Amino acid sequence: MGLAIVTGGSRGLGGALCDLYREQGWRVVEFSRSAPHPFSVELDLSDVRKVTEVFTREFESLAGLDVSEVVAVSNASLLGPVGPVERSTPEDIIGHLHANVVSAILFARAFAGAFQDHTCPKTFVNISSGAASRGLAGWSLYCASKAALENYVRAVALEQEDRPHPIRAISVNPGVMDTVMQEEVRTSRPEDFPEVERYDRLHREGQLAAPSTTASRVVELVESRPRPGEVYSAQ
Ligand SMILES: NC(=O)c1ccc[n+]([C@@H]2O[C@H](COP(=O)([O-])OP(=O)(O)OC[C@H]3O[C@@H](n4cnc5c(N)ncnc54)[C@H](OP(=O)(O)O)[C@@H]3O)[C@@H](O)[C@H]2O)c1
Repeated sequence: MGLAIVTGGSRGLGGALCDLYREQGWRVVEFSRSAPHPFSVELDLSDVRKVTEVFTREFESLAGLDVSEVVAVSNASLLGPVGPVERSTPEDIIGHLHANVVSAILFARAFAGAFQDHTCPKTFVNISSGAASRGLAGWSLYCASKAALENYVRAVALEQEDRPHPIRAISVNPGVMDTVMQEEVRTSRPEDFPEVERYDRLHREGQLAAPSTTASRVVELVESRPRPGEVYSAQ
């Protein structure tokens, strides 16, 4: 039995990944605030104290399963606060970095802690964005958090090289998808996000991918045993 552990599996790309792995007969666990599925664990990733407690408990129990392959997808992400830096509050900044960076790193740590010695194929997937390598006005925190995680994955991939049973750590840029996050992008005010018109046009022209299509590409990529540390496109 395969095991997929996904953050932000309540909807969007994470939801589609959960659906796909379940269709393939995998056991699936997802972490989100709304936790709508029987396989959901309710968790707010901006509450790092709770995150540490819940990941410790859940990963301890998952590590005892007899699995043939395990995939951990760090997918949950906040876009906002959107707008110029001087307008975001310290609380918004801390909440964003806790959810997008600190909790993603705690997730990777819990995964490695639980599964490092397992001999089956193991993959850690960081769902990234084009914003990791390009600055976008109004998205400074999102750009910073995506860039941080891509380089974290490169470092982890190097650490894993000489492990007897390495975890394959990769990043994937999913490209633009028709999700709640894109709705949030489109409803931004131009003074907060000057590129809003471009994203509105992509939506009008039907250029946003269905999350299920992108999820299939991510699953295929994992199956292809990609080179650790790389950033792949799922577009
Ligand atoms: N959509 C795009 O065009 C696009 C483009 C490039 C990259 N991406 C990346 O793709 C990934 C998936 O995005 P998406 O478009 O599918 O987003 P989405 O539809 O907004 O879904 C985000 C998921 O993250 C969860 N989440 C958000 N904040 C959370 C928190 N504080 N604690 C726990 N869970 C939280 C949400 O669940 P709850 O609300 O239930 O907590 C939801 O399941 C993200 O990493 C995003 O940056 C998306």
